[in-house]
Amino acid sequence: MKITRLLLVLFFACPVMLSAAIEPEFADLGVLPGEGTLVVPLREEGALPAGLDSPLVQVLEVAIEVAGFKGAKNESLIQYAAGPYGRIILIGLGADTPTARTLQDFGGTAAQLVGAGSGGQVSIFWPDLEADARLPAAHIAFGLQLGGYRFDKYKSPDEEGEKEAETQWRIHSGDSAAAAEYWRAEWSGVAEAVLFARDLINEPANVIYPDSFVVRTREAFRGIDDVSIDVLNVRQMEKLGMGALLGVGMGSERSPRLLVVNYHGGDKSAAPLAFVGKGVTFDAGGISLKRPKGMWQMKYDMSGAAAVTGAVLALAKREAPVNAVAVAALVENMPSQRAQRPGDIRTAMSGKTIEVLNTDAEGRLILADAVWYTQQELRPALMIDVATLTGSVEVALGSTYAGLFSRHDELARQLLAAGEVSGEEVWRLPLHPEFVTAIESDIADIKNVVEGGYGGASLGAEFIGSFVQEETVWAHLDIAGKAWADEPGATTPKGAVGWGVRLLNQLVVDYYQ
Ligand code: BES
Ligand code: ZN
Ligand code: MN
Repeated sequence: MKITRLLLVLFFACPVMLSAAIEPEFADLGVLPGEGTLVVPLREEGALPAGLDSPLVQVLEVAIEVAGFKGAKNESLIQYAAGPYGRIILIGLGADTPTARTLQDFGGTAAQLVGAGSGGQVSIFWPDLEADARLPAAHIAFGLQLGGYRFDKYKSPDEEGEKEAETQWRIHSGDSAAAAEYWRAEWSGVAEAVLFARDLINEPANVIYPDSFVVRTREAFRGIDDVSIDVLNVRQMEKLGMGALLGVGMGSERSPRLLVVNYHGGDKSAAPLAFVGKGVTFDAGGISLKRPKGMWQMKYDMSGAAAVTGAVLALAKREAPVNAVAVAALVENMPSQRAQRPGDIRTAMSGKTIEVLNTDAEGRLILADAVWYTQQELRPALMIDVATLTGSVEVALGSTYAGLFSRHDELARQLLAAGEVSGEEVWRLPLHPEFVTAIESDIADIKNVVEGGYGGASLGAEFIGSFVQEETVWAHLDIAGKAWADEPGATTPKGAVGWGVRLLNQLVVDYYQ
């Protein structure tokens, strides 16, 4: 009886097998196994890398010739039953000297081409090709983990799934011991943090809501040194006067939370880097209800919160010598008898009164209180907020760039550069006094939307900016077009991207540690 109950508990707690992240091993160049799958890089219009057996080179040269394979970036050619290998995958690197991004894309492409359920040994061959990155094998491992990510916990397991668990990944390169150490110390934690963010975002809103977001975060940070987590509940936020954030949460049974994750890796007295995230665990629009088409996607409206929490997780995992804090404003935006109405006026923590003309412009409301709290309570050295704030930013920038808004040219420049290096690119859009005038309310201090207003991404940014003090070094990232991938990229399978973890980590690596 007892055993049956235990089995039942196990069954319900873990209804399906979780597909684990790829755990790459590192090996030297001389020890290719001669079985399974071999992955080989090829520079554009270049020759096959030295170090492959000559019969194999002959087979591949014919295949390359017949297929007209040029080695363009992320292009591939698969040759089955070549020499001792069941499969050889050639992946193009393009013409330029490979950078960290090229290497990560190479790894991600390999993971996606090998695919689910292949099983066996996969060997990635990285001869000492010229590369503009430290220890290429570590970057390939990073790409493997990101590109090989799948959110399939709700899929019933089949035989394919079981075979997949047996796949062994090995990257063969020159300095394999150093690459393994570099991977462990600097990159594996970042990859884990991206996958943590993706899991939170991909989860449906009946699973991830403010409280369960907090629980997941506590689990992810468990056992990590120098981290403290504070969580504000509704009563505490009421005391602080967070009327803007609480107003958004009124329509939902799931009560809001303000999650604060502190990481102290730097000097005791040093002001922290603050990352503030929009965490709307579901955005139905509230009383200004969204249309049904695509509404399900609004489970990803907490991607900013996942990104900032993930970024601090990355810093903590790789023990970065900085102080950093993630502030996640967690709330569900639902219509109900108790929801706030269009036209309601709320008082924010800063004391400003807000006329809520559209309950679907809720991100700026919760961030108004979150950025004010961050400035008052944490006195940050800089503050970057990350939010799926507007559809307009996607109209402007498509799914190529996230929108960057800042009054601080230096911080803007750093973010632009970190975007290039990390592959999470941003494009600067304007703040302007005319947007400030546009959001003046007739009867309150400020209104949350402008009827028929163009420049929606700038209006949203300027709204948040009106709660940012002059002396705060601040940037706003509107990631509505980036946080969810409708089409897969080399290191970003379809669905949640975890966008922002890599960018913020790179910003710290290059300018703040
Ligand atoms: N969460 C949405 C923005 C969004 C839209 C994110 C599409 C991802 C994809 C946000 O809360 C919202 O509803 N914004 C409105 C603002 C408008 C009412 C001023 C929008 O963009 O339409
Ligand atoms: Zn929203
Ligand atoms: Mn909305």
